[in-house]
Amino acid sequence: MGVIEEDLRRHPYPLPSREGSFHNMILGIGTDIIEIDRIQKAIERWGRSFLKHVFHDEEIRYAQKFKFPAQHFAARFAAKEAVYKAIGNNKHLGWKDIKILNDANGKPYCVLSDRKFKHKILISISHTRNYAVASAVIAA
Ligand SMILES: CC(C)(COP(=O)(O)OP(=O)(O)OC[C@H]1O[C@@H](n2cnc3c(N)ncnc32)[C@H](O)[C@@H]1OP(=O)(O)O)[C@@H](O)C(=O)NCCC(=O)NCCS
Repeated sequence: MGVIEEDLRRHPYPLPSREGSFHNMILGIGTDIIEIDRIQKAIERWGRSFLKHVFHDEEIRYAQKFKFPAQHFAARFAAKEAVYKAIGNNKHLGWKDIKILNDANGKPYCVLSDRKFKHKILISISHTRNYAVASAVIAA
């Protein structure tokens, strides 16, 4: 692993290089907000076929662990939209090309099906009873 890759792994935010420039650049930002009720209604209407269309099994299992799964489905829905906006010019991305998972601390992260996409994707999620919001940042 090169020095820059090692720095990126350890520091997800801009870090001044020895020359004083920033080598961890922000390339894109995206945000999305969604009414949880919309997702709840889609689940009630189309059930598992809706879930399977939008989410991977790991995402479904994660959300269904909670008392109010729709909040967590809505958050993942918003996070996928936020990643789509942050990437900007890839119209070929589908729902299941973007997977939102959580690490051992609960912190969300994104796995993209496009293995050629080498940039770092940072995700943040929040939800209340009525709304879920997510932001995504692409860093190089
Ligand atoms: C983790 C924590 C920040 C979540 O905040 P919250 O207000 O309870 O819940 P929100 O709806 O805003 O956010 C929930 C989302 O936070 C994200 N999250 C959970 N743990 C996280 C972590 N360790 N780091 C980053 N994001 C985290 C998840 O994406 C979660 O949604 P999901 O389960 O659907 O994926 C909160 O539980 C916590 O630990 N707070 C500690 C705050 C604190 O110590 N403050 C003092 C210093 S400022």
